[in-house]
Amino acid sequence: MLNFNKKILILGFFLNFFLSEICALDRTASRENPWKNYYTETLKEPVDEFVSKAFELVQQETITPLVILNLGIGSGSNIQDILKQDVEVHAYDAVPESIEILNKRFRLYINNKLHLHQVFFEDLHSLPKADMIIAWRSLSFMEKDKFFNFWKNINISLKSSGIFVGTFFGKKHYLNRSPKRPQLFRMSSKEVTDLFKNFKILYLYKEIKYNKNLSKSRGVDSYSDIYKIIAKRI
Ligand SMILES: C[S@@+](CC[C@H](N)C(=O)[O-])C[C@H]1O[C@@H](n2cnc3c(N)ncnc32)[C@H](O)[C@@H]1O
Repeated sequence: MLNFNKKILILGFFLNFFLSEICALDRTASRENPWKNYYTETLKEPVDEFVSKAFELVQQETITPLVILNLGIGSGSNIQDILKQDVEVHAYDAVPESIEILNKRFRLYINNKLHLHQVFFEDLHSLPKADMIIAWRSLSFMEKDKFFNFWKNINISLKSSGIFVGTFFGKKHYLNRSPKRPQLFRMSSKEVTDLFKNFKILYLYKEIKYNKNLSKSRGVDSYSDIYKIIAKRI
């Protein structure tokens, strides 16, 4: 676990901070696609190491074909390797450009292995039964009062021994966003662990970093504060 964490600490921080700075969405602003640059940037990204680790774990636990949900998939880099395996992936994202990118990028897999859903999480009332759920840098952009209901659906969707891999913003996370947009959804470590009562937490990693440049430009200490988690459904 330590080696794994050290590796992701070095590789993950810079990109994570940069990406979270430019990521913001609310349901009315989506037409402007605030993620345009982000999608271009992440097209070149490898699979996140937490997601790779989670996929290894689910392969050990489950007989294929594996059903995988990717919530807030963006440009799809986290599924680029997974799609080569015996899987069925359901990808969800509110932004039409994300779906367009996936249609082009993974055209060979569309509708056989990869099923695309352009939808807001807030409008989803159920999810297919799944062996693995990826929610990487996405759930913290939800409307907070709708998140807990959606979390219930995630709990119902994940099969026993299924694996969840995702991130949540910590209380100190700062994100530049228009005052017209809803506040980001941040959580304390207790709030994060409380979510996982029906899970065994396998990895929980808190990444908090001081951002010198942002602190200087805002005149206030500013941080990137992110929980990364892999958990197994009981
Ligand atoms: C920061 S990006 C992360 C993309 C990808 N998971 C990654 O790590 O590269 C967040 C993604 O979640 C999607 N998203 C954010 N809030 C959403 C919501 N309420 N419903 C559906 N998708 C949402 C955005 O459209 C965007 O593609």
